[in-house]
Amino acid sequence: MRIDIVSVFPEYLAPLQLSLIGKAATAGVLDIAVHDLRNWTTDKHRTVDDTPFGGGAGMVMKPDVWGRAIDDLATEDTVLVLPTPSGEVFTQGIAESLKAEQHLLFACGRYEGIDARVAEHYAASGMTVRELSLGDYVLNGGEVAALVMVEAIGRLVPGVIGNPESLVEESHGPDGLLEYPVYTKPPQWRGLNVPDVLLSGHHAKVAQWRQQQARERTAARRPDLWAKIQG
Ligand code: ADE
Repeated sequence: MRIDIVSVFPEYLAPLQLSLIGKAATAGVLDIAVHDLRNWTTDKHRTVDDTPFGGGAGMVMKPDVWGRAIDDLATEDTVLVLPTPSGEVFTQGIAESLKAEQHLLFACGRYEGIDARVAEHYAASGMTVRELSLGDYVLNGGEVAALVMVEAIGRLVPGVIGNPESLVEESHGPDGLLEYPVYTKPPQWRGLNVPDVLLSGHHAKVAQWRQQQARERTAARRPDLWAKIQG
């Protein structure tokens, strides 16, 4: 999978060189490139934003600059991802739907966002355009959201996580439940014991206990998910 990320703060994306995503990039499983949007400006001040039509606070990112950047980087297979608090909420299901794409192009907006014609133009030209939000809060820009989405999608690409078994029984999987609590050695710590059933060696009972814990957790912590499961 090829991933391009365009930002006015390319240094923000440095963590992509670390850990499993960084290793996958070094190994060539993921081909990740970060670009400075200002490379596509044409004036001596390297301007990327301007005041909003209709008035109001803040600045809006210019469509002409973004258009040149996207035209240069896009291919026939590109999915254009626009992180924005006004997008559809990014979920594990969306990560799954993007994991087999050839090319993701992240356009990280700052300030009050990117001129709306950018999304409109590329969608009309036949490109898949996804406006995606991390959740119901506002960040200062799309960079952190792009980091989150690249990690959530990238770890689903075969070869990124050494043991694909790690991807089963996670929270937000197909059953819609949160993950059950997990424990390791020592069996006693600060007066707290690991539940007996996990030390019993009885696999069916362990599986049943985990299922019950996952259900109780989901009902208590995420009534919205629990309601969907109850259908
Ligand atoms: N940019 C600013 N806030 C955001 C959010 N919640 N999700 C995605 N991108 C954003």
